[in-house]
Amino acid sequence: MLLKMKQKIGCIVVAFLLLTGVHILAEEGEWKLLDKSWKLGLPFELPPRYSPDIHWGDVYPHHGIAINAPYYATNMRVTISGRKFSRKKWVTRDWADVVIICDMNGKVYHCLKGESTEEETYEIPGNGIRVQVFSYGNASRESLNDNYIEVKQFEYFVPNRLEIDEHFPEGFFWGAATSAFQVEGNCNGTDWWEWANGLPGRCHGDKIGDATDHYNRYEEDFDIAKEMGLNMVRISIEWGRIEPEEPKDGEEPKWNRNEIDHYRNVLKALHDRKIEPMVTLFHFSQPTWFANKGGFENDKNIKYFIEYVKKITSEFSGLITYYITINEPETLALGGWNREGGLPPGKENNNLACKVFVNCFEAHAKAYWAIHEIDPKAKVSLAKNMRVMAANNFCDRPLNPEPGKDLPVDALIMNQSVDKPTDFSKWLCDLGDKFTNQSYLDALLTGRICVFLGPGCSAERNIPELKGALDFFAVNYYTRDRIFFHLWYDTDTKFVLNMKYRPDQHEYTPMGKRWEYAPDAFYTLMMRLKKFSVDFSEKCGKELDGIIIAENGVGDVDDVKLADETMRSRFIIDHLHYLHKAIRDGADVRGYLHWSLLDNFELAEGYRAQFGLIAVDCRNDKELKRTWKDSAKLYQKIIRDNGLTNTVIPYVRK
Ligand code: BGC
Repeated sequence: MLLKMKQKIGCIVVAFLLLTGVHILAEEGEWKLLDKSWKLGLPFELPPRYSPDIHWGDVYPHHGIAINAPYYATNMRVTISGRKFSRKKWVTRDWADVVIICDMNGKVYHCLKGESTEEETYEIPGNGIRVQVFSYGNASRESLNDNYIEVKQFEYFVPNRLEIDEHFPEGFFWGAATSAFQVEGNCNGTDWWEWANGLPGRCHGDKIGDATDHYNRYEEDFDIAKEMGLNMVRISIEWGRIEPEEPKDGEEPKWNRNEIDHYRNVLKALHDRKIEPMVTLFHFSQPTWFANKGGFENDKNIKYFIEYVKKITSEFSGLITYYITINEPETLALGGWNREGGLPPGKENNNLACKVFVNCFEAHAKAYWAIHEIDPKAKVSLAKNMRVMAANNFCDRPLNPEPGKDLPVDALIMNQSVDKPTDFSKWLCDLGDKFTNQSYLDALLTGRICVFLGPGCSAERNIPELKGALDFFAVNYYTRDRIFFHLWYDTDTKFVLNMKYRPDQHEYTPMGKRWEYAPDAFYTLMMRLKKFSVDFSEKCGKELDGIIIAENGVGDVDDVKLADETMRSRFIIDHLHYLHKAIRDGADVRGYLHWSLLDNFELAEGYRAQFGLIAVDCRNDKELKRTWKDSAKLYQKIIRDNGLTNTVIPYVRK
């Protein structure tokens, strides 16, 4: 009897556990296919070892892909449709080639050996997944030639219980950014017009032409901006239009009245729609005559820029509150004066690059005070691009584990991960950070700028008026750089920094390996600027009017036509999530401007790289039709909700 009772109770308990256990273990929710960005580089093959065309430390000796799901995903899974890694033995290891499935911290969940033609699905916790191929020891080209892996898809899990509730402060600026020569079209009389029309093959063979014809269609574009809900739009004024001729000594410059009226109408069109303009005075392109005089290479030329700045400020006072003096001095300097840059004037001289950089800051300082003299209420900043720098190691060690020792696979991964940079890599990373980021921050606090790009390539100057020359902090954020030191790697580069890009360890945007997908680094940067704001008020005796993200965005790429939109929606959601976290943790961020409103002429990439929320096929569509991308519809929803809510979830899709 007692036994029967016990059995009964046992059955009830088991049934209860099973029933509740189902609820506890299998969280309810939905598996979703990840956007198309992961297709980059897949199916990946193993390049032959020691091949002269493969750079050490670039992809060799690991291959694979690292991919993120939106930040709110709790699990990920990958489906592999076929794989073969045939080399079985290496020294003491059973298998020479394996496929590893791990998370972003290198924690291994699955280790696959041999071959399979069956479809297989592997799941791991978290919102990031890496599929990496590891090969041990030397192998001949032949033995690796027929190795392959084919990844069919990545999916991520969204639990039903999810509650996204990330609201931004009242009055937050939601906007988008553009620049004149990239959207207006027909900017003849500027260095960029000449540059793109110059040697064939530049800018991927694209000429600027009509671009999006924003010059004539700005009303239509601002209607779109309005419909999207934007309350700030960043435009730039084309100096070459305003002042097409070099001023003669002692004479009043010849201003082009029609063009001044044009920009007055543009500004009015924004105000009519209750959109606050942010106006950049110098966004890379410059009058040809100014460029021919050396542009910012020569500090004697700064005075021309200041005259133009004064003219704009006095003409448009009352129409502009937010001024950007100069956009991204570092991009201008390294893009134009470093041989890898691809921007005009296409010189190769790092010493001059340093000079241009420093002259830009002097020009900013002078412009800042000139604007304030005319319009004391103006809010002025320089748009500083800040790349977050992280020290990497070089991945050669664990490939040659000591004979006789069989290192566990996860130890191998950790040894090669970014967590173990050498001291020299850290030093180099610090050097890169000083040039790109810290030199500017220090200069604003002290009035002294020092930049160093390597032996014989440096510049320093006291610019007392630079101290405190900022009303708000405009920052452009795109990506993180992985920096490492290696003696013989890439010895032919003249740039002192070596960047190491590991697609198997970090996700990259369709723009390529120099564009890591790094929303978490956005948070790091905001925390740094939070600290800077405190230093600024202590050292300069005034408070900054917050931080405005003056650019943040991602490009899709297609060589001939409009690109499919890949990861922009996920990009926006993840970046806004980290921005929100930064605001919650005390960063005084007042606005976010997405780059860009429209697909446009993307510098050295021409029209193949497309950053717009709105698609415009500048190469093939004579009508230049404006088409809303999915991300534009998402952005509209986010703005309507003043932040992230569950309504964003359906937008991250395949
Ligand atoms: C520049 C833009 C450019 C964008 C995307 C920024 O560095 O200010 O002109 O199009 O990045 O590369």
